[in-house]
Amino acid sequence: MAKEQYLAGQLAIVTGASKLVSIGSATALTLAEHGANVLIHYNSTSQSVEEVLGKIRSLGVEAAAVQADAGDPSFGKILVAAALEHFPTDKINIIVNNAGLGIAREDTASVPLEDWDYLLHINLRGPFLLIQAALPYMKPGGRIINVSSVMANLGSSKMIVYSASKAALNSMTLSVSEELGPKGITVNTVSPGPIDLSGSKDLNVTLDDVKDDRIGWRVHSNQHIKRKGTPQEVANAILFLASPMSSYITGQVTYVDGGINLPL
Ligand SMILES: NC(=O)c1ccc[n+]([C@@H]2O[C@H](COP(=O)([O-])OP(=O)(O)OC[C@H]3O[C@@H](n4cnc5c(N)ncnc54)[C@H](OP(=O)(O)O)[C@@H]3O)[C@@H](O)[C@H]2O)c1
Repeated sequence: MAKEQYLAGQLAIVTGASKLVSIGSATALTLAEHGANVLIHYNSTSQSVEEVLGKIRSLGVEAAAVQADAGDPSFGKILVAAALEHFPTDKINIIVNNAGLGIAREDTASVPLEDWDYLLHINLRGPFLLIQAALPYMKPGGRIINVSSVMANLGSSKMIVYSASKAALNSMTLSVSEELGPKGITVNTVSPGPIDLSGSKDLNVTLDDVKDDRIGWRVHSNQHIKRKGTPQEVANAILFLASPMSSYITGQVTYVDGGINLPL
């Protein structure tokens, strides 16, 4: 059945969207299903770019790709220049800051100094740079969605820098939301719990592989929905926040985590 085309003619930028099974590609495809033209971004995963682009185009919309390292101070400008070059518009409607990664370390003593610059550049400064570069092209009705993590709230002794970077992303979302609300642009965060990236069709993939550390214990003991989430379930929340249906929602964190984030 054809999906309602409430994003028809809009231009969306989705970062970290070239892996076949990922939150980024699921989001790009979901926005495209509802009519958006999509610029997908990737950094090192180039091998599946054409396949993702093909899937998006098969939905009857325009698609293009751009490579950039989020650690590059020109990250935002590179993506915006690519958007304006590939699509016949001077308007950017939707930004999904999805690219991000974590590095597990044993404890505080094992965190090298380099982790701080590396992870904060990708998880926090990159999203900021894209927002900053895109703002002159965003108009009322614009949507910015940042992909965070429940780790921002739960913390993790094994993922100190990652958790801190995602908490800072939540805070940045709130600050930018205050500025852009009067301009008719909403800014929200989607905060996933553990998402299954195995590509399994089984919707009941459990958390058995989550390690037996503090975060593992917290996640196991507080699961209300006792399985991992799927990239599509995260994409569905992003779609809602990108759509006209979410016009009075801004500065919020939307958890897609099966309840893991709730108080014990
Ligand atoms: N999977 C989960 O359980 C989970 C849970 C909570 C939150 N999240 C968040 O969800 C988002 C998507 O993650 P995912 O789980 O779907 O895994 P993923 O597909 O591996 O996403 C990570 C993305 O970050 C990009 N990236 C890595 N280094 C980069 C750099 N230096 N510059 C630019 N981009 C870079 C990667 O691009 P390339 O591959 O092209 O290098 C990749 O597309 C992330 O922000 C992650 O923190 C995931």
